[in-house]
Amino acid sequence: MPQPRNVVSVGVGSGEEMHAAINMYAGGSVVVHGLDVSPSALMHSHEYLAKYGLRGVLTEGSATGMPYPPESIDVFIFSAIMHEIYSYVPDGRQAWAKAISEIAQKTSPGGVLLLRDFAAPNHEGYTRLLFKSRIAADFYHYFSREFRAFAVTSDQMRESMLDRRSGNDSYLPRVTAFEESVRLPTTAAAEVLLHFKNFCDHVNRGFTNLDDVTWKELNEVYLPPDPFVPGFYPMSQSAYVEQIEMLMSCALRGTPYSMTCVENGRSTRPNHAAFLAQHFHAEYPDLPLSSEEVIAGFTCKMELVFSKTSSR
Ligand SMILES: C[S@@+](CC[C@H](N)C(=O)[O-])C[C@H]1O[C@@H](n2cnc3c(N)ncnc32)[C@H](O)[C@@H]1O
Repeated sequence: MPQPRNVVSVGVGSGEEMHAAINMYAGGSVVVHGLDVSPSALMHSHEYLAKYGLRGVLTEGSATGMPYPPESIDVFIFSAIMHEIYSYVPDGRQAWAKAISEIAQKTSPGGVLLLRDFAAPNHEGYTRLLFKSRIAADFYHYFSREFRAFAVTSDQMRESMLDRRSGNDSYLPRVTAFEESVRLPTTAAAEVLLHFKNFCDHVNRGFTNLDDVTWKELNEVYLPPDPFVPGFYPMSQSAYVEQIEMLMSCALRGTPYSMTCVENGRSTRPNHAAFLAQHFHAEYPDLPLSSEEVIAGFTCKMELVFSKTSSR
């Protein structure tokens, strides 16, 4: 969009997307907004923007009920928030669907949504994981017992535990020594590695207590779950796009508009892949890819652009 009237970063976090949008449209009359459910995220964004002498409008509110009039927003940025929307409430799928319908209704004609989030690997089968370090094996051991066991506040939440994903196993397979390997559905293996990276980032920030229930990310689902499959079985990227378009078209029924995906890409994160390759060896039994290639696929982020145009 060359000259949007407004840009909204939803799930503003620390304000970096607002900063980028303000810089991108510097000199114009754009108003850049940040929306977040977390008062501390809004406070961080406020301090971050102030540090650079930038101005934006920060509002407390949820993606599932955005405080903007219909068809009023030219650019929505959803970066690393969709997975949080379906992770934190018992009815995560409904919350996710509600957020998408909100976007469809509140985007202006000609407006766009930029969506960036974790991407499920394009592999339907299994992955064999070997642990190259003791910390990786220890983490896996812990994760396979405790993943999302915290903050399980209701039976519905219990349904969302990762162990439901791995076929008939009630938990992820156990390991007792770091020389052992495990065979996991590929999406589960990807989820484990993404969480391991996050865990190490926490450790580097001085976090040491694995039992700390305030470590919220442990309970997150990073890869997008299929709304029609029980448990949290992740969708491929193309299925994810189809789901979003379907929900948008339901929300826009009766209006002269539709929202479709006009860019569908993935970005690699080489630093994450290189870090993880030090701790894990990963292979697909059915495909001749190197461990580095498999792990690089796990760390991709999907980058989608949806545009709202006349449907006639
Ligand atoms: C992982 S951070 C992403 C921050 C930033 N957008 C980025 O890409 O770095 C996710 C943010 O989304 C916020 N969030 C989670 N659920 C939300 C919801 N339903 N509505 C609005 N914000 C939400 C969290 O408070 C957090 O600040």
